[in-house]
Formats: sequence, C-alpha cells, structure tokens
Amino acid sequence: MASEIVLIITEQRNRQRILLPATKAPCSFGRGPRCDYVLRRNNVGDRQFTLEYADGAWQLRDDGSGSPTWYNNRYLRPGERCPLQEGDVIGLNTDGDDATQEITFRVQEIRATADAGGLRRENEDDPVLREIDLRRKRRVLVGRGEDCDVQLTSDRVSRHHCEITFQDGHAEVKDLGSTNGTYLNGQRVHTAVLPEGAIINVPTQVFAYSGGVLHYHEHKVGISVELINVRKTVKDRNTGQPLDIVDGVSLQIEPNSFVVLVGGSGAGKSSLLTCVTGSAPCTAGSVCFDGIDTHGNRNAFDAVVGYVPQKDILHENLTVEQSLLCAARLRIAHDTTRGELRSAVANAIAAVDLQGREKTMIANLSGGQKKRVSIAMELLASPRLLVLDEPTSGLSPDLDRSMMELCRKLSHENCTVLMVTHNMSNINLCDRIAFLGVGGILCYYGPPEQMDEYFGVELTSDIFEKLREPELIEQYRRQYFTTPEFNRLVSRYPAAAQEADKRCSR
Ligand SMILES: Nc1ncnc2c1ncn2[C@@H]1O[C@H](COP(=O)(O)OP(=O)(O)O)[C@@H](O)[C@H]1O
Ligand SMILES: [Mg+2]
Repeated sequence: MASEIVLIITEQRNRQRILLPATKAPCSFGRGPRCDYVLRRNNVGDRQFTLEYADGAWQLRDDGSGSPTWYNNRYLRPGERCPLQEGDVIGLNTDGDDATQEITFRVQEIRATADAGGLRRENEDDPVLREIDLRRKRRVLVGRGEDCDVQLTSDRVSRHHCEITFQDGHAEVKDLGSTNGTYLNGQRVHTAVLPEGAIINVPTQVFAYSGGVLHYHEHKVGISVELINVRKTVKDRNTGQPLDIVDGVSLQIEPNSFVVLVGGSGAGKSSLLTCVTGSAPCTAGSVCFDGIDTHGNRNAFDAVVGYVPQKDILHENLTVEQSLLCAARLRIAHDTTRGELRSAVANAIAAVDLQGREKTMIANLSGGQKKRVSIAMELLASPRLLVLDEPTSGLSPDLDRSMMELCRKLSHENCTVLMVTHNMSNINLCDRIAFLGVGGILCYYGPPEQMDEYFGVELTSDIFEKLREPELIEQYRRQYFTTPEFNRLVSRYPAAAQEADKRCSR
C-alpha cells in the first residue's frame, strides 16, 4: 500500500503545508545542505530528524544532532524512533528555550494513495463506505431478512423494515410496518419523498442520500462520538443568571473504545453524559455520532444508545431470565420467533457473565449482579454506544474491578462504552480518561498511563486537590488544546479549534 503524509509547518505567523509521498521517504530535516528539507535556524542540528516509511507506517527518528527534537509532549532521546499518527506534533526550540517550540510540524493527515501494484489493505474493523445507485437499482429493501439488499443483524430491525425506491426522478422511503420505526431527518415517517441530503435512520444503521445515490457505512462495531465545543448553560437556581455547567468540551471517542469520565463531585459529569445520551441536550456546540450531528436527528439516534442509570430499575420478584424476556418482547422487533427471542436473552446473559443465574430471583442477587442485569437489558437492544453513570457507586471495591473488566470486554466486542466513575483504582483498564474540572471544563483527555505525568502528580488522587483551583483548571484547559488527542480531533473537525483559539488568544 502506498501512503502519503501531510504536514503543516508553523513558524511564528507563517504556515506551510507540505505533502510527502512514501516514495520520497526517508526524508531528512536539518541545517545541513544535504538535508531534503533545509532549516537554517539556530539550535537546529545538521541532521535534526528524519521521517521514514516502513512496513505500512510512518515514523519519526531523532538523528542525535545534539539539539533535541520535541514529540507531542516530551523530548526524544538521541536516535529514538516514534510512530506518527494524525495530530502528532514535532517541535524545535530554535531560540534555545526548551519550554517553547518555535517551529512545529503537525501531522495533518496520513492517507493511502492509489498504488498500481497492490490493493489497498483495509483494516477489518474499519467501517466500509458502501454506495447504492438508486437510479439503476430502483428498489432497495432494508431489514433483518435474508432476502434484503441491505441485511442488518440487530434484533431491533424488522425482517422487512423499510424500502427505498426511485421513480420518476425522485427517491422515496417507505416503512414496511417496522416495530422500531424508520426516520427521515429525525422524524418518524411512513412514506416520504427524500430531499437532497436526506438522512435516513433505522436501528443500527444510517443512510445518507444525495444525487440519486444512497451512501452508508457498513459497521460491525461501535460508533464514534465527537463532542465539538459542547456547552450546557442553565439558569442558576440561586442568582437567576445564566450558568455554564458544561463549558466548551471537545473530544473524540473512538469506535469500540472504553472511555471513563471522572472529576470531583458536582464537576458536571452527569450533565455531560446527558448531552451525549440526549436526555438533556447541550445548549450550544454539537454532539455527533459517526460524524453526523445528532441535533434534529435525536429520535433516530436514541436507538443507538443504551443508558444504564445510577439506580437500577428492576422488578425484584422476577427471575433474571423472566426480566430479560419481558424487556426483549418490548424492544425486539415483533416478527422475531420464540427461538430468536430466547437466543437474544441467552446472548445478553452470557455477555455480562451471568450464566447459571437465569432462574435466580432479582431480589436474591448482589448489587453487582443486579447492575449486570441492567446492562444485559440494554444489550438486548444491541446498542452501539453504552453509557453508564457510576455503575459501581455503593458497591464493594472488589466489584469495581470486575465492572471495569466487563466494560472493557463489552467495548472491544460489542459497542463503544462511556462510563462515569468516582473510583480511580482501576482506571488503567480504560482506553481514554476524560477529567472534568469544576464548571464542566475538560482538563485532560488521553490515555490513563500519561495522566499523572500530565498533571505533575505522584498520586492520582492529588489531581482532585489540584483541580479545586480555578486558575489551575484554566491552565489545564489550555494545556489540553496542545495535546495530540485534541490536534487529531481538529484535523478532522476544524470547528473544534474555535474554543481553543478563543481561550489561547486571551
Ligand atoms: N439550575 C442550576 N443552578 C445552579 N447549579 C446547577 C443547576 N443545575 C445544575 N447545577 C450544578 O451543576 C453542577 C454539575 O452537576 P452534575 O453534572 O450532576 O455533577 P457530577 O455528576 O459531576 O457530580 C453541580 O454543581 C450542580 O449543582
Ligand atoms: Mg453525577
């Protein structure tokens, strides 16, 4: 597979974009005239660093010139190599002050290019973009049945769910009496003509229509969630003045990852969660699922999200199996057979490791087991995003680890998982941590293992102490805007830079 890398080079107010094909790699940067890219500046080595391309990946190598090369958030050791991803930043401190980087090279994009020799290698988990030309195909049947043109595996989808047809120069969508509905631009519809740019939703699948063609991502996996400058302003109970309880949060949750949201009591965790689930939407900014703004499409996206509230809502005098069968009858398409229903319940029980407890009364379960039943209820609807608010509060500490392990397993197999917790003991099991400071301000978003160093603490619990200071909260808010996580988001969603530009120019 051929590849090319796009770099944005920034020096004071100058910006330059360069594109480097893999065929030109290795490409050296430095002061020396032999370098492929010559940088005549102070404190730059004759050969400073090299970009290499090998085994399908781009790498940065420091060339041990004596002047250090900055990579994201630290200096490289002489000769050290690092893999490059979109959003990564390479920096050089040309004025000799090692706290600042005067020239930065930001990786804007790494992309595959057409290669006459070989086929583009696709990651199995990558969503595949599909297209159906309605002008030629005329009728597309969507549903769970084997005779469908687009066959969806979720039990929430009816056997024949809807059809999209093309006639006399216009396309039309028709719901075929489905249990869980067909939505056009956020409204449940029976039959409707598709306007240009229409978004059609059925459980677990989104279609976009333009120019006579139906586009959709074929997913087997969880969705991505993008928060862009998300804000929630309420009327202060005490003063009657507007009050921000979520303040300009921007971050991206990768498909099938496990993200944990932490922060002190009253920091705004639950408020941010309800922006994502849509039960109390944000008042400004946007929440996107798979890159599509959920605003105005809320009804349709409801089916995508499973929400496990803090308090379990279970009938104490039913068995585990009875509870799940009841829930399944409500949620699963009406045309499922008894056998399909039973196997959906068995799958949900297995997913939360409750095999052997099928006949136990809910009343006789432990707190942790009840929480698992609540999660299994949500899994029946095959959510692509599972949201949990403090699932282990009030449980014994050893149950916290098994809950974290369960969330990790679910995220990698079934869906993307976003969970609020107050317990920091097992956070190394998640893929990313979002740390909120008081006022709903995002102070950190990144891998758990880098968090203590980012905040400059020995003990994770000291972060809570630090984030009591409004000034420090502001400082970390701005620091987040310099991280590779944030840069990666901005390279895909430039609007996310607005808040950062505003904060950093003050
Ligand atoms: N109408 C309101 N007036 C004043 N404060 C509010 C209002 N609504 C929510 N808050 C405050 O917003 C903050 C965030 O609440 P919440 O999201 O529940 O925090 P967390 O889940 O992190 O404990 C809390 O301090 C809460 O008191
Ligand atoms: Mg809360």
